[in-house]
Amino acid sequence: MKRLLTLSMVACLVTGILTGCQGKENIPKVSVAQIVEHKSLNEIRDSFHEEMKVLGYKDGENIQFDFKDAGNQRNTLNSILSTFEGNQSDVIVAIATPTAIAAANYSENIPVVFSAVSDPIQSGLIDDLTHPDKNITGTSDEIQVDQILSLALEIDPNMKKIGFIYNSGEANSVANLYKAKAFCKEHNLTLIEASGTNISEIQSAISVLLNQCDAIFAPNDNTVASSISALVESANKKKIPVYAGADSMVSDGCFATVGINYTELGKETAHMVDQILKGKNVSDIPVKVFKDDLNIYINEDTLDRLGIQLPKNLNQQENVVMIKK
Ligand code: TRP
Repeated sequence: MKRLLTLSMVACLVTGILTGCQGKENIPKVSVAQIVEHKSLNEIRDSFHEEMKVLGYKDGENIQFDFKDAGNQRNTLNSILSTFEGNQSDVIVAIATPTAIAAANYSENIPVVFSAVSDPIQSGLIDDLTHPDKNITGTSDEIQVDQILSLALEIDPNMKKIGFIYNSGEANSVANLYKAKAFCKEHNLTLIEASGTNISEIQSAISVLLNQCDAIFAPNDNTVASSISALVESANKKKIPVYAGADSMVSDGCFATVGINYTELGKETAHMVDQILKGKNVSDIPVKVFKDDLNIYINEDTLDRLGIQLPKNLNQQENVVMIKK
């Protein structure tokens, strides 16, 4: 019996070495943190997970995934990340800017791959997109503020005042605020900003904006996006169009955006993690910025409710996606 056991242990060891399979406790750990649940971040998380499967990773067999959501609480986020460090994660995936900023505290020991960080330089994560220098790389959804606000002007050439609604604690939104300010200055528009750090503050900020603006711009702000269906209702009632930073917000009732496909961004995040697990240096994996192949997303129901007539040439553009809901 003892001999049989020894033999089988040797056999296991040999096949283990030959097939490269390790004991379960040694399989790589990929830990994914997300600041809050909303449609777009969930889409990124799910497409990342799916693409990892396509790349051959099987949960519990040759990889161990841990997905955690912080419910938009910075304290919870920090304790999630410290657990990831404690359990010796091999890679941390950080979805959205607030998550990435918190994860950067651990990058000395664990490579960090961020996902959907709108402005990695402005938010202080990285200095050089082509040669990441801090054990941090990832994917960026660079919001095309100019194109979104140009669309708004094309639809309403008489637009004069734009409201900008955001959480002032989100570096991603602050970066987009600067871009919106520059656009407004150039086009002689007035930008009225209103911020809050939680949903109820943002709700009151919106009500104030509604009495002052011709349109509202809600950029890719995680706090705003996480409750956008409720937030946008009052604007739609007052027939003020809300332009958004992402397609998910348009499907949740905002009027329109010009934006990227987040499923593709999630997939690319998986490819970066795969390269790191295969031994590639983070510094050899440039940040991938998603800013091309943009679609114009318009919510058809909201269009009807607002009673807006789309300009003819917009209707003829191939990249217009009408969202019905
Ligand atoms: N770009 C955002 C960030 O940097 C994250 C994000 C992705 C997002 N898709 C979104 C935020 C849609 C709001 C809505 O944090």
